[in-house]
Amino acid sequence: MSRLVIKGGKHLEGEVYIHGAKNSSLPVLAATILCGDICEIHNCPYLTDVDASLKILNYLGCTALRENDKIHVDSKILIHSDIPDKLMHEMRSSIIFLGAVLARTGRARLSFPGGCDLGSRPIDIHLKALRQMGASIEVEKGIIDCRTEGRLKGAHLQLTFPSVGATENIMIAAATARGETIISNAAREPEICDLAAFLNACGAKISGHGGGVITIEGVETLHGCSHTIIPDRIIAATYLAAAAVTGGKIKLNGIVTDHLTPILAAFEESGCLIEEEAEGSITITAPKVLKPMKDIRTMPYPGFPTDAQAILMSVAAVAEGTSVFVENIFDNRYKHVGELRRLGANINLEGKVAVVEGIKRFSGADVQSTDLRGAAALVIAGLNASGETRITRLRHLDRGYDGLVESLNLLGADITRM
Ligand code: EPU
Repeated sequence: MSRLVIKGGKHLEGEVYIHGAKNSSLPVLAATILCGDICEIHNCPYLTDVDASLKILNYLGCTALRENDKIHVDSKILIHSDIPDKLMHEMRSSIIFLGAVLARTGRARLSFPGGCDLGSRPIDIHLKALRQMGASIEVEKGIIDCRTEGRLKGAHLQLTFPSVGATENIMIAAATARGETIISNAAREPEICDLAAFLNACGAKISGHGGGVITIEGVETLHGCSHTIIPDRIIAATYLAAAAVTGGKIKLNGIVTDHLTPILAAFEESGCLIEEEAEGSITITAPKVLKPMKDIRTMPYPGFPTDAQAILMSVAAVAEGTSVFVENIFDNRYKHVGELRRLGANINLEGKVAVVEGIKRFSGADVQSTDLRGAAALVIAGLNASGETRITRLRHLDRGYDGLVESLNLLGADITRM
């Protein structure tokens, strides 16, 4: 079993480049299916979730190949419209293939997706929307079987929650549907805008993305394009946290500062100095003593992202005073709390609220990753801790972080992967 051994207490200083976003790469790769042509996707990180997407594309009949950070997908020929259980279970976002395969082949047969266990994670919003667009869907024994006679039909869809995945699935399915689709209460995350930019570059007619109402005028066919994935705002949050807990100073390059607004506000509240010197880069300087973050409430974008909750909790855990977190997106996203407590954190949980009483410093111990962002929170805690922190179940970290250990070591950390 592989593990990370972190010798904590090192002061981090230097520069780091932020790689492409996992949560953009995955829907964009799924959407390449619709093109029936060649797409080149740049700035794709090396992640097991991206590898899982490539496996699905290759199974479906596409040729999907990586060359450094570029992924080349030729989707001229599709030979399957099902996705085997084993591939579906490799990641949660495999559900994003539903709209793409259905729109391209008129049929999609796949099982319920795997991924992080953050709660119940239903897909009712996806299925309801596709039904409203004319798909007939049967769900039996964990298999979702969707069919459509000819092209899907445009529809006015009112989402009960601005689900990121459902908004993406609908945008993809609607791109080549007959007529106009309007998504009200759509997700507004930067990754939604990146998917829209990709689809529009392929000839789709999507407008309103980034706001709560997205309009998609269906076109008959799409073509290939070259697209560059946006930087990963949660990876950026991770390096900001690494600086904050080590009294460090780190310059982040390759970012979109606007995407980080609620995250930067939290770091500023904790006493960190954030300076934007040039477009695409910021420098964070940690204070001598971190201040608490009074009220972190996770919300759909542009609110504070749930994916940064665990990471910021490791910062709050070593601030002087009491911080309060409220997790509003997932019903089981505090699994990292038990592991942070093993490292000395003082955190009380009641339902969706976590009250964090700051301690002076974490103390190293043996811990297990519980999910992707929980794993990152443990790395942050380990960087601060006295003594050695050993983290197992690294498969979670590998789903979302490309070169984290190497980059942190270049900044001055002492981490070994055994
Ligand atoms: N929901 C429903 N029904 C649905 C869909 C969602 O009830 O049909 C609920 C979910 O159960 C959850 C909430 O709505 O409580 C939000 O789910 P959403 O669909 O927005 O999330 P997702 O598409 O499954 C993406 C990211 C997550 C991120 C969330 C929220 C990808 C691949 N995943 O998931 O990322 O936390 O949006 O921003 O884009 C991560 O990267 O660590 C991660 C978990």
